[in-house]
Amino acid sequence: MKKLLTYCLPVMCLGAPLASADAVEERIDTLLETMTIEQKVGQLALRDFGTYSAEQIPALKEQIRQGEVGGFLNVNFSSVNDNAFAELQKIAVEESPQGIPLIFGQDVIHGYETIFPIPLGQAASWNPELVKKGARIAAEEATTDGIRWTFAPMIDISHDPRWGRIAETLGEDPYLASILGVAMTEGFQTDDPSRPDAMAASAKHFIGYGAAEAGRDYNAAYIPEARLRDTFLPPFKAAVDAGLMTIMSSYNTLNDIPATANQYALKTILRDEWGFDGFVVSDWNAVMEMLPHGFARDAKHAAELSANAGIDFEMYTDTYQQHLPQLIKEGKFTEAKLDQAVRHMLRVKMRLGLWENPYPRGNREAVILSDDHRQAAREAARESFVLLKNDNSILPLAPKTKIALIGPLANVPHEQLGTWIYNGNKEDSEPLVPALEQYLGGTDSFTFVQGLEYSRDTSTKGFGKAVEAAQQADVIVYVGGEESILSGEGHSRGDIALPGAQQELVKALSETGKPLVTVIMAGRPIELGKVRSQSDAIMMAWHPGTMAGPALVDVLYGEYSPVGRLPITWPKGEGQIPIYYNRMATGRPATDDNYTLIGEIEQGVFQHDPGNSSNHLDYGHEPEFPFGFGLTYSEFEYSNLAIAKSRIALGETLKASATIKNTGKVKTTEVVQLYIRDLVASRTRPIRELKGFERVTLAPGESRVVEFEISTDALAFHNQKMEKVTEVGEFELWIAKDATSGLKGRFTVYE
Ligand code: BGC
Repeated sequence: MKKLLTYCLPVMCLGAPLASADAVEERIDTLLETMTIEQKVGQLALRDFGTYSAEQIPALKEQIRQGEVGGFLNVNFSSVNDNAFAELQKIAVEESPQGIPLIFGQDVIHGYETIFPIPLGQAASWNPELVKKGARIAAEEATTDGIRWTFAPMIDISHDPRWGRIAETLGEDPYLASILGVAMTEGFQTDDPSRPDAMAASAKHFIGYGAAEAGRDYNAAYIPEARLRDTFLPPFKAAVDAGLMTIMSSYNTLNDIPATANQYALKTILRDEWGFDGFVVSDWNAVMEMLPHGFARDAKHAAELSANAGIDFEMYTDTYQQHLPQLIKEGKFTEAKLDQAVRHMLRVKMRLGLWENPYPRGNREAVILSDDHRQAAREAARESFVLLKNDNSILPLAPKTKIALIGPLANVPHEQLGTWIYNGNKEDSEPLVPALEQYLGGTDSFTFVQGLEYSRDTSTKGFGKAVEAAQQADVIVYVGGEESILSGEGHSRGDIALPGAQQELVKALSETGKPLVTVIMAGRPIELGKVRSQSDAIMMAWHPGTMAGPALVDVLYGEYSPVGRLPITWPKGEGQIPIYYNRMATGRPATDDNYTLIGEIEQGVFQHDPGNSSNHLDYGHEPEFPFGFGLTYSEFEYSNLAIAKSRIALGETLKASATIKNTGKVKTTEVVQLYIRDLVASRTRPIRELKGFERVTLAPGESRVVEFEISTDALAFHNQKMEKVTEVGEFELWIAKDATSGLKGRFTVYE
């Protein structure tokens, strides 16, 4: 039996400095001794260069000269000087009193100039190596300009696809987000962050940002402690254990306390419990936002609250500079706490080797958008696509099939890049139409009609031409969804259906009777409604990035079989939200035969006793597509579930395996998932929890035994006393294709 190891969370110190820890601390002690309070406070100032006018820049440079700026973000986005990295750094290094280098940060979220799929799309690959490589390439590119710090990975858990920032997450599951968040951190930082092409990662947003009520960005979050610890914190803990160098606090209030002043999160959990020793940066303007929150009276009070709570680096605003010296005089803040914050900052700068390599590493031409980077982005894009439906194996298409390519997103180089693409340019982006032309050697076998000018276009005036093209084709390929601006920060939607007149267009196309392939580009799952039945095939492409076009061609024509799996539950509509697979058990669980749909009520036909179970009369109880779901161009059969020992003692490791066979005609990859359920515990437990997954690539007819190992520690949760415990008792286990199916077994944990 071939043994495959499941992905594990490394407990290693990625951020280990080259010099010994003691030597770093000694260097910091020496520096601190020479610094004035103003210079120390200056290290805690993170300025947004993009917001400075030409008139303000001389004064800003003077501040750097005085040692009163710690770093910058958005140096690339100044209307005054878009490449001032070296110039600013030279002042800090050569003219400031201690010569402490600046740290330059930026949102390098899913690529720098070579744009990879949005993070949610990358998460759909369930491929940590791919996520790591994407981050590595982004770092190689960004560091050419001198950016040594990124505001990623975003590892917020969210159960609400109305929230625009769901696009930026690594999915709804704490285990998957932990694995992928660590991979992204490793990709940015490497195991030697002092390399000139390494970046410090910043896990964000700490904590609870994804639980914004109603999916409205920046809204209040209410998270009971057990859920905080079992669901929201684990990805951050995993990243810290892997050597994460920095953390960003969030905008939201958590249980009525702004995260920016949350001592419990920033001190008790992060420092005391986890031993995090890097720096914490506030979110942009978040310190001052405690005024509209009604938590701080004024700027001085805001500085006092956030500095005492453990925010080290103040992003954008300057309340620390204005008020910390006075707050120290008044005894409301202490120089010891200030030294501690500066120590966090200097530690990160030293680990990055900024003294040794303060300047941009250059070499832009050779690095940015290189052939290798484009190829990696193409691979990442095709691995992110999730095939949701494929009736009659309409996909893949044969090259000779005459297709009508229709839709507002089929040929829009900018929109396929998605949210957070500061440095991505539409000029470098390859959409589907030219990629198709290249693949098919011309335009003879396809016609392109946009049908709608953009995704929210409500005019039906382009429908006639679209339908005409459809009638003359063998297959229709519709590419629609949401433009990039419909997701991302501050871009939440209340209605998550296809916007504009897209549903009407899909209906008109389906009425031609021609097979219809629907490709959706969007930053979130979309309410499909009738589009599901009107389409013969549906593929979720997220926002795939620079290489969307070639990647779509690869998959549509079967050069590459889809391998993506949903990292998020796909709802039927927003009325099902919040929705997530690992929900808690209810006392009246819905099953396939104990609920009634509105249709049955209207018709007065009850096929069964409706009972009173936990469901919606209009949606039923299942999502549109479950977490973990995704089709390939092949078929996989699961058999022979084997649990090595069905009774294991606390501290032992359970071994469970199943035989996976490729029964189809194409060599491709299956994502084999391991779920468990703790049947009886001192708190109710989720109906399923992902505890492992393995990607196996099999040729037609090939089979393999996939084995998982789970330690009883991995079954732990927080009990009523907030102790993390594994309780003895019965568990169910599934080896499965997704969160609602699978081979089911049982095991017992005893003391
Ligand atoms: C976002 C952060 C981002 C920061 C800097 C904020 O508005 O919430 O995620 O890193 O801006 O651009």
